[in-house]
Amino acid sequence: MTINKTVIITGANSGLGFECAKTIAKANQGWHIILACRNTNKGEEARQKLIAETLNQAISVMELDLASLQSVRDFVSIFQKSILPPLHGLINNAGMQVLSGLEYTKDGYEIAFGTNHLGHFLLTNLLLENLQTPARIVVVSSGTHDPDTIEGKFNKPLFLGAKQLATMANEKEMTGIQRYATSKLANLFFAYELDRKLKGKNITVNAYDPAYVPATNLVQSIKNPFARWMLRASTGFFKLLGVVSSTPDVSGGAIARLLLDEKLEGVSGKYFQILEEKQSSKQSYDTKIASDLWEDSLELVGLN
Ligand SMILES: NC(=O)c1ccc[n+]([C@@H]2O[C@H](COP(=O)([O-])OP(=O)(O)OC[C@H]3O[C@@H](n4cnc5c(N)ncnc54)[C@H](OP(=O)(O)O)[C@@H]3O)[C@@H](O)[C@H]2O)c1
Repeated sequence: MTINKTVIITGANSGLGFECAKTIAKANQGWHIILACRNTNKGEEARQKLIAETLNQAISVMELDLASLQSVRDFVSIFQKSILPPLHGLINNAGMQVLSGLEYTKDGYEIAFGTNHLGHFLLTNLLLENLQTPARIVVVSSGTHDPDTIEGKFNKPLFLGAKQLATMANEKEMTGIQRYATSKLANLFFAYELDRKLKGKNITVNAYDPAYVPATNLVQSIKNPFARWMLRASTGFFKLLGVVSSTPDVSGGAIARLLLDEKLEGVSGKYFQILEEKQSSKQSYDTKIASDLWEDSLELVGLN
């Protein structure tokens, strides 16, 4: 199979990103896969594992720390100088949460909003000129963004506007899970606004919810052992409440489907939970909030 197109997957060294990369590598449809990771040692380990498991060598690692705007700019500049097949896919998968205490990115922005939204916002905007059509962009959000679902009721996303979210100084303003869920709501405003801006350009943008996947590091690395135990032990209880849970291979594989599936050609501006197209929260379709977020984000990342 000729390797004739490149896809970048952020946060591909573990969890859903890793499984997504594995599915793409196994599908053997001519993709060169870039694992965009903040820790290149972990990235290299993942690359070796992927090659061993899929026998596909068309995989490389590039350093990308989404919590540093300079790192995002460096990543894009190195990518632009590299000799790789043309870029046809971008999967914004990386994500993190800090449940207690406020932490900040290298640029001084609240870390969940700064990493999950602003880092990807800058990355995507800088890469737009490199995307060759037809192209697909996938934005990994989370069901926690929707206050009309059980996860959302528990997480209580609260969109206060980009500048207030980015510069939050008082821990009491929002809890850690609220900040995470709100950053995932920002992912949706971003995906839908980007889709509107790219209409007619043969670049699709879809958003994705992997459902609740307790086996990945996002849940396993929660520092408070009681909270971690609670989340693991509650999986059966969550199910009774109607929370959909999944495994990294199923939910990571379904991210890959949004890149690979011929039936999804031209499908854009949609939201999928694993394989099923769904409606996201009512607020996520608010075009005024989305365009304000876009303008403020341009300013916050220094693109205006
Ligand atoms: N697991 C769930 O239940 C669930 C539910 C809904 C949505 N999601 C979303 O699914 C996506 C993948 O998460 P996961 O569950 O697979 O968790 P995961 O295993 O922790 O993977 C997250 C990935 O993001 C990377 N990352 C974190 N901060 C980064 C930064 N500053 N720069 C670059 N990469 C960074 C991590 O790198 P390191 O290994 O270096 O930390 C890791 O590779 C996230 O967007 C998450 O919000 C997950």
